[in-house]
Amino acid sequence: MKKLLELISEEVKKAFAEAGYGEELGRVTVSNRPDLCEYQCNGAMAGAKKYHKAPIMIAKDVAEKLQGSAVFSEAEAAAPGFLNLKVKEDFLVSYVKEMGTTEKFGAGEPGRGRKIVVDYGGPNVAKPLHVGHLRSGIIGESVKRICRYAGAEVVGDIHLGDWGLQMGLIIYELSLRQPELPYFDENFTGEYPKEAPFTIAELEEIYPTASGKSKADEAYKEQAMEATFKLQNGERGYRALWNHIMQVSVADLKKNYDRLHVQFELWKGESDVQDRIPGMADYMRREGYAHESEGALVVDVAKEDDTREIPPCMILKSDGAALYDTTDLATIEERMEEIAPDEIIYVVDKRQELHFEQVFRCARKTKLVKPETELRFLGFGTMNGKDGKPFKTRDGGVMRLEYLLEEVYAEMYKKISENREMSREEAERIAEIVALSAVKYGDLSNQASKDYVFDIQRFTSSEGNTGVYLLYTMVRIKSILNKYREQGGDEEKAQIAVTGNESAKDLMKALAGFGAMMETAYLETAPHKVCAYMYDLANAFNHFYHETKILTQEDETAKSAYIALIALTLRVMEECISVLGFSAPERM
Ligand code: ARG
Repeated sequence: MKKLLELISEEVKKAFAEAGYGEELGRVTVSNRPDLCEYQCNGAMAGAKKYHKAPIMIAKDVAEKLQGSAVFSEAEAAAPGFLNLKVKEDFLVSYVKEMGTTEKFGAGEPGRGRKIVVDYGGPNVAKPLHVGHLRSGIIGESVKRICRYAGAEVVGDIHLGDWGLQMGLIIYELSLRQPELPYFDENFTGEYPKEAPFTIAELEEIYPTASGKSKADEAYKEQAMEATFKLQNGERGYRALWNHIMQVSVADLKKNYDRLHVQFELWKGESDVQDRIPGMADYMRREGYAHESEGALVVDVAKEDDTREIPPCMILKSDGAALYDTTDLATIEERMEEIAPDEIIYVVDKRQELHFEQVFRCARKTKLVKPETELRFLGFGTMNGKDGKPFKTRDGGVMRLEYLLEEVYAEMYKKISENREMSREEAERIAEIVALSAVKYGDLSNQASKDYVFDIQRFTSSEGNTGVYLLYTMVRIKSILNKYREQGGDEEKAQIAVTGNESAKDLMKALAGFGAMMETAYLETAPHKVCAYMYDLANAFNHFYHETKILTQEDETAKSAYIALIALTLRVMEECISVLGFSAPERM
């Protein structure tokens, strides 16, 4: 299905050609003066030089050709050379009707045939999930769904941080607390216990304790590094402990991500590519890409025209240990072999930009990827508290995701159960759904790269640009449709039609923009565009709702038209929230 602006532009292009001008001048945009017109074309201004004519003359010539057009009810030349356009209602009606019967409401599939890996989430095993990982999960999930909507084949990979010093810290701390465990007995050859020697709650205490000790005590840190080294070199007991840490921690992570409706296809991590590292390092050495520098193995990635210093990519430290660069490169190698994506999108804190710049350059230089493989870094900003500083708990600690979600949930529950007859279970269920929309929309409605302020009061408000407002709007539509059914109406039979209602026309114009918006959201990897669209659509609906008698409408054609129109609005909004990664309740 063609985009509305395409159809409109075609009509204007034809008129330019008929009036003797180049049709390329006929591109139409949404008006930036909605008080004057709905759409506009600035082509006459662009053509003035070429045709040695005042722009207003050109605009007048074209406007004349547009009189009697099937598309426009108004086409006027305005000084100094604009074409101000209004579309005919019946043209919009047939467009929006077609949308309703077209797959994906007319959004095309610019991603069809592409394979994309989205690397997001990125939590570190055994460390509690904190708000920094919240953004990656929320944005990454939405990016994944937008790519999928665009027809691409998409795989989301959590890329766990599961191989670093934190593992050695936990193992060493455990060896001090429970030295009698068989994992620490080098002569033990039997089978290790199936049960982990700690719970998630204990694990969450062990890591910060160990981390604190290692910062204060150099010898402690060395021991932890030694344990990390042994783990990475395959010490049997340490591997077994590592498996326990993974199991306990991943189960907990799953619980948290489930609550967020964030689902990964792959639960791989840094540890999965360890076996590749020696081979990859050899290859880089052999092909002359990597060289020794102060004992370390590095690949130079600086370019002559760099405006800032890009340090070499570190492949191996002088002691032979792998680094963050190394695991990311080995992961690229693995993904190219196992998935062969056309594109990898990394949804990571923007402070890691330099790391990814180095990794991407190195992957290209060393031909781990094909020249046409796209490597994209989608860096997100910080989630701040109202004081403008990174979000913290009240006592200044790192905010854990669970607590934050719980706080939003509690606030939402309070608002929902206030003055309402609703069972406790229902209020709880609804609060959970709505709280998720509050958190996700609060995040996604900002351009990802920007910092934003997490404001529970604002996010849970049913007024303003919030997820809660959008869900209220959807629930309002659901309730009208339910009443219509109760009155014996058949929503399926309702037909959008010309009614002469201006606010209905505005709603149709908003609906008609869906396809183009979805494609842009994909091409620009921009969930915030979906949010902005939805907000406009919700406003257009609410305006219509306040201006219009729907259920009490006497004119049956108009009533049917309104019902069909709001039903379509609801379906389009469902589509939007589904790519944003939340859902709407039946009532609230
Ligand atoms: N675990 C990392 C961190 O918490 C994020 C991982 C991002 N993804 C990647 N492929 N490096 O900082």
